[in-house]
Amino acid sequence: MKLFITGGAGFIGSNFIRQILAPGRPHTVVNYDKLTYAGNLANLESVAKDARYRFVKGDICDAHAAEAAMSGCDAVVHFAAESHVDRSIYEPAAAIQTNVTGTFVLLQIAKKLALSKFVHVSTDEVYGDMAPGAFADENAPIHPSSPYSASKASSDLLVRSYVRTYNFPGVIIRASNNYGPYQFPEKFLPLLISNLLVDKPLPIYGDGKQERDWLHVEDHCRGIMAVLERGRIGEVYNIGGTDIVENIAMAKALLKAMGKPETLLTYVKDRPGHDRRYALDCKKIAAELDWQPQITLADGLRQTVDWYKTNTAWVAGVRGGEYRSYYHKYYENRDASLQAIAPKSPSGV
Ligand code: NAD
Ligand code: TYD
Repeated sequence: MKLFITGGAGFIGSNFIRQILAPGRPHTVVNYDKLTYAGNLANLESVAKDARYRFVKGDICDAHAAEAAMSGCDAVVHFAAESHVDRSIYEPAAAIQTNVTGTFVLLQIAKKLALSKFVHVSTDEVYGDMAPGAFADENAPIHPSSPYSASKASSDLLVRSYVRTYNFPGVIIRASNNYGPYQFPEKFLPLLISNLLVDKPLPIYGDGKQERDWLHVEDHCRGIMAVLERGRIGEVYNIGGTDIVENIAMAKALLKAMGKPETLLTYVKDRPGHDRRYALDCKKIAAELDWQPQITLADGLRQTVDWYKTNTAWVAGVRGGEYRSYYHKYYENRDASLQAIAPKSPSGV
């Protein structure tokens, strides 16, 4: 298959492209990416010269350019998005434009070009907060809490409507929190790891007891491949990890793994509308497509920490420029107001 991949220079997209271009695989790739702050061609150095790979710089909202690049492809795997909740809270317009309008533009083009499959990469965040002990299956109601998750939910609904109205070959994947190599350090785990590399404090939002379901990016990519090759048109597939962990427990696990003191834990002002818990029921993809996560959280964390320790040039590259001003804008003021709202944790930190 010739695949049209959007957002392939980002974290999950680049992991997917490296996986799908492993030796002996039959696919070829057009990677269509705008190269926003989150897009980084350094993520794809290992495949840049592969004859099966082509990069096209472009915006998914630009119908003309997207159609030219998509022509001749067989299927779409759509990763491109403004993917960070905090940025969507403080500057929501970009998330709405890319995630909603951009997806609409791609649906129109894929329909016109009669592509055989459109895999829409969505998120567990569309289900919103899960009650303690509850897990969202694919029929759970959509209850997004942030502009990011609302924009992703909107794009899911557009895909669904195209399937129903136009017999469009759409499939939706809703994955939990990914972690692993090449993740931009605005997200929790790479932010913590890259801060620890330079002994900076770890900002923990609110009481740190929010829970996330952690999925190694390579397990997610294997799931996307399974859905691309064997997933049923019109279906939704949840893809989750093996462990649901409180943020504070995750931060402490990283401190331990990196041999750093708990005095670096710093409680900061909470995210507005912060979801307490995400948890996915993934029985459907296990039963239908024989997919299970293969990487335990302990192994995945060890591998991820090693990757960030080893790839110092990559980390230095992404921590420069835009990231520095982002961090300054969203964290320096937050840090200053910390002590007033710091909760007492059982360990006294
Ligand atoms: P990312 O932010 O690392 O990468 C996004 C990529 O999209 C970047 O390369 C960026 O340049 C590109 N992009 C952004 N706007 C674009 C536009 N208008 N036109 C073309 N390209 C554009 O994101 P990620 O973490 O790799 O997430 C990929 C997808 O997976 C997203 O759709 C996200 O909603 C979804 N998802 C992410 C997670 C997670 O934990 N990171 C979990 C579940 C689902
Ligand atoms: P994030 O990686 O932004 O993913 P999401 O909010 O989409 O699940 O955040 C994961 C969790 O970590 C979430 O509960 C918010 C929390 N968090 C912090 O406590 N501190 C931080 O600096 C960041 C970025 C996130």
